[in-house]
Amino acid sequence: MAATSLGTPWGLRRAAQAFARSHFLRSNAKLSFRRILCSFPVAVTGSSASGVSQTVQALKGDVDVLLNGVGEKSTIKEVKNILEMARRASLRREVLHTNFLTPPVVKESMQVLEKLADVKAIAQGGYPQAERCRISVGHPEELTSDPDIIAALSVTGNFQFEPCSHGDFLGAILGTGISREKLGDIILQGEQGAQVLVVPELVDFLMSSLGKVGNVSVSCSKIPLISLDYEPPRTKSFKTVEASLRVDALASAGFKISRSKLVDLISNGNVRVNWTPVKTKGTTLKTGDIVSISGMGRLKIGEINTTRKGKSAVELIRYL
Ligand SMILES: *[C@@H]1O[C@H](CO)[C@@H](O)[C@H](O)[C@H]1NC(C)=O
Ligand SMILES: *[C@@H]1O[C@H](CO)[C@@H](O)[C@H](O)[C@H]1NC(C)=O
Repeated sequence: MAATSLGTPWGLRRAAQAFARSHFLRSNAKLSFRRILCSFPVAVTGSSASGVSQTVQALKGDVDVLLNGVGEKSTIKEVKNILEMARRASLRREVLHTNFLTPPVVKESMQVLEKLADVKAIAQGGYPQAERCRISVGHPEELTSDPDIIAALSVTGNFQFEPCSHGDFLGAILGTGISREKLGDIILQGEQGAQVLVVPELVDFLMSSLGKVGNVSVSCSKIPLISLDYEPPRTKSFKTVEASLRVDALASAGFKISRSKLVDLISNGNVRVNWTPVKTKGTTLKTGDIVSISGMGRLKIGEINTTRKGKSAVELIRYL
């Protein structure tokens, strides 16, 4: 039963099954990369059976099916590149790593990678809640532990009289000439400065070239990931009872704004669920979903119970 886990349209799924039965005789709930992304063996594409080449077309199209629902074009392009990288890594029995990726790319890539056989993927950003992560991909037999591909720097100085923001640190670091994708999260440490996640190759470079942040002279030292000092995000949680689990109902309760304001924000593309822009107010939410609104922060959907009257009692967790 190939491809049943993919949720592909029936036509494609049946084509995939037929193809798998006739050419691979292999029972596997996942599509392997060989079947999705590779050029097909000459013996197969050269077959005279007219049905076969159509099937090959359909299977090539599966990459796009897998990416259905991935929001933005730039995200899709990045996710495709990561899939291609995973295919190479798996076939060559290597482990390959991306640079630091944005949260939507990390999320979409991991979701797609999970569906593939013969590929293991690990996302890490240096600490548990890291937003910017690097993804390592490889054959499950090769990628057996978390690769050591993230380093941390402590950037210290006297920020007591000149507090610096995330943007100040980011600007100063990029000002040394390193590119954004070599840089992970920046964790502010108040008057002391900040801790910075970065690719290990650039630790020495940053230590010697980052001299100032804003007007404050700084010094950098390498620190082990275990000394990262991140605060679990401050949250406030409360309950609401709603007739539906639609995003307009839950987000207007969570952010304490009117439904009509929320609908405007949705149509302007300012509301995201799990970092993908919401297209309609009828989108329904489930436990664990993160709703973010530009300029207003984030909301996580907690436990959901059904009341005796058939409504939903929902725990909402607001990040402050
Ligand atoms: C840095 O110092 C200069 C001159 O003392 C001042 O004009 C400027 O506003 C300061 N910049 C910051 C970010 O504090
Ligand atoms: C859901 O039900 C459990 C068990 O009765 C209760 O502890 C919890 O507070 C409820 N959560 C919500 C959001 O109503």
